[in-house]
Amino acid sequence: MIALACDHGGFAHMRELKLHLDGRGVAYKDFGTYTDDSCDYPEYAEKAARAVVSGECSAGILICGTGIGMSIAANKIPGVRAALCSDCFSAEMTRRHNDANVLTLGARVTGAGLMLRIVDIFLDTGFDGGRHARRVGMIGELERSANCQDMCQTPTETAERRG
Ligand code: RB5
Repeated sequence: MIALACDHGGFAHMRELKLHLDGRGVAYKDFGTYTDDSCDYPEYAEKAARAVVSGECSAGILICGTGIGMSIAANKIPGVRAALCSDCFSAEMTRRHNDANVLTLGARVTGAGLMLRIVDIFLDTGFDGGRHARRVGMIGELERSANCQDMCQTPTETAERRG
């Protein structure tokens, strides 16, 4: 099951993507938005990202105007490794080397045809493991230590640490 989300900037591309996934027989859960009315991408990024981290969905595909806002927002959810891709090589490598579990796309950057190729590569490429597993593990450690520092320190200590 793939978690999908978009904002108004990605809405038209999302329609294309769902038709494509239907054609491939890929199951998905659409976390919205469901209209092209202006909306706030972090809300939809969070819903889809949490579905990936909880295990409800195996991966996520998020679309906004540039793909950047969705990427920044999704990467705030611990356990998410979201990659913004606008080319096929990056889509392949972020699965092989980063074990990316969320793909973000910019509808105002990447045309629908290229987007669908990027999506296919993302869905069909596995993680290489090996030395890359160690590095992905280190990203998890960074995430845990950053969260721990925030939770274990008073707001004053946190402000001092950040300078
Ligand atoms: C919406 O206008 C736009 O800011 C959004 O889709 C996205 O590009 C943000 O990163």
